[in-house]
Amino acid sequence: MNHKNPDVDRFDDRLAAVYSRTENKEQQYDEWAKTYDSDLLDDLGYVAFREAGEIFIDVVPDRNCRVLDVACGTGLAGEYLKQHGYQNIDGVDLSGKMMAIARQREAYHATWQHDFTGPADLNELYDAVLCVGMFSYAIPKISDMHNVVNCARPGATCVITINGAAWQELELEPEVYREADLNGFTIEEIRKARYIEKEGIDSRVLVITRKREHVLT
Ligand SMILES: C[S@@+](CC[C@H](N)C(=O)[O-])C[C@H]1O[C@@H](n2cnc3c(N)ncnc32)[C@H](O)[C@@H]1O
Repeated sequence: MNHKNPDVDRFDDRLAAVYSRTENKEQQYDEWAKTYDSDLLDDLGYVAFREAGEIFIDVVPDRNCRVLDVACGTGLAGEYLKQHGYQNIDGVDLSGKMMAIARQREAYHATWQHDFTGPADLNELYDAVLCVGMFSYAIPKISDMHNVVNCARPGATCVITINGAAWQELELEPEVYREADLNGFTIEEIRKARYIEKEGIDSRVLVITRKREHVLT
């Protein structure tokens, strides 16, 4: 196992391109937007949004709560939640072109653009956060996870996926616990779930609670 050069070339070219790139990610997803759904759903067996959506439904049963879908992409996860009765979902993503497709799904109350390698500046925090498919190889890094969790109000639940191949190859488990300790959130459980079936990639789905009080030490 080589942590500096993970072997992402073994995956489909479209995934390898995303997993290996650390710059101009916005442009990369803008360029992918038009064929993203057919590439992932028809060719690659992408089920992450459904699997994580089911876990979200299990741990956040309140259909009226204010949900943020971080890295909403073309809106697959938001649409899944809407189909299951969630009424109040916002979406946020790095890529304007991915979000333009998401808006056509009419699952979101509002959408906004943000790069989660930095903190979001919010007037009002969300009651729950779902983040599917953003943490993988390359960036954002696990050390950016607090930028996602901090969109949730203290005491709220976040459901965040991590690509299972990256999880194993980059040995990310100690990193997520370190990130949680440093930033005042608790990892309640880590569930294994299906992710990209035809590539044999599974996922780890983190169920997180943002602590009510976090004192920096
Ligand atoms: C694999 S897609 C997942 C999209 C959607 N959640 C889904 O399940 O289909 C990853 C998404 O993360 C977004 N993304 C990547 N880096 C990001 C960042 N630094 N900040 C915000 N979004 C980012 C991309 O634009 C893309 O829409």
